[in-house]
Amino acid sequence: MSVSTGTKKITVPAIIKMKGDGEKIAMLTAYDALMAGIVDISGVDIILVGDSAGMVMGGRENTLSVTMEEMLHYTRAVHSAVERALLVADMPFLSYQISPEQALQNAGRFLQEAGAEAVKIEGGAPVAETVRRLVSVGIPVMGHLGLTPQSMHQLGGYRVQGKLREKAEELLRDALTLQEAGAFSLVLEKVPATLAEEISKALKIPTIGIGAGRHCDGQVLVTHDMLGLFRKFRPKFVRRYAELGDAMERAVKNYISDVKENTFPDDSESY
Ligand code: KIV
Repeated sequence: MSVSTGTKKITVPAIIKMKGDGEKIAMLTAYDALMAGIVDISGVDIILVGDSAGMVMGGRENTLSVTMEEMLHYTRAVHSAVERALLVADMPFLSYQISPEQALQNAGRFLQEAGAEAVKIEGGAPVAETVRRLVSVGIPVMGHLGLTPQSMHQLGGYRVQGKLREKAEELLRDALTLQEAGAFSLVLEKVPATLAEEISKALKIPTIGIGAGRHCDGQVLVTHDMLGLFRKFRPKFVRRYAELGDAMERAVKNYISDVKENTFPDDSESY
């Protein structure tokens, strides 16, 4: 299937319609204008300014210390370069869990100050009231279930979720609760493919999987992972479409050696 790279703006209703039309949704992350511009012009449907920025850009061990100010900064940069994709901002840890009113104030900042068109929050039934509050004032919400990295300490690390029937049933209930609360889509992270399929079939809203098999309505990867730029670790679910980290390392080594050997710059590169 060809990728449409026209400039027709992707909206929240368009994303929901894609599920009805049986068209898979392609989502990727971006944290800066340069990457966002390339991802957008390539025709991706949704760009997520993920709090994974804390690890990818900030070099941190996990996402817990990412702040609202950082996420607003990344989202503004991405917004400056995006013309077509739906722009979703990830709400950082403790920016939405304290109360629905706190969540509303912070979610509002993403739309008002940074150009986001929707926000993503992690969690199931406990955040349903918050989803309802945001949606009631016109802020589209993407849910996130399964492995929710902001709860990594409680979950005991980055393990596959929903392997046991009891937990799988809870995830299905959470998914239905989020849909009922008004979420327009749902990220399913690191859950068995059979469970993701069951949840996707039970929901009217699209599921977007990461490490959740191919029966989800869409897929998301961290762009720096799929381009081979983030090389610290490589989860099984990441397909590498390029090895840009290796290419960059080679290029930098060549530059260093040219400088050391005085072969850069040459006459054609001088005035
Ligand atoms: O922060 C992030 O990049 C995410 C995606 C991996 C879904 O939440």
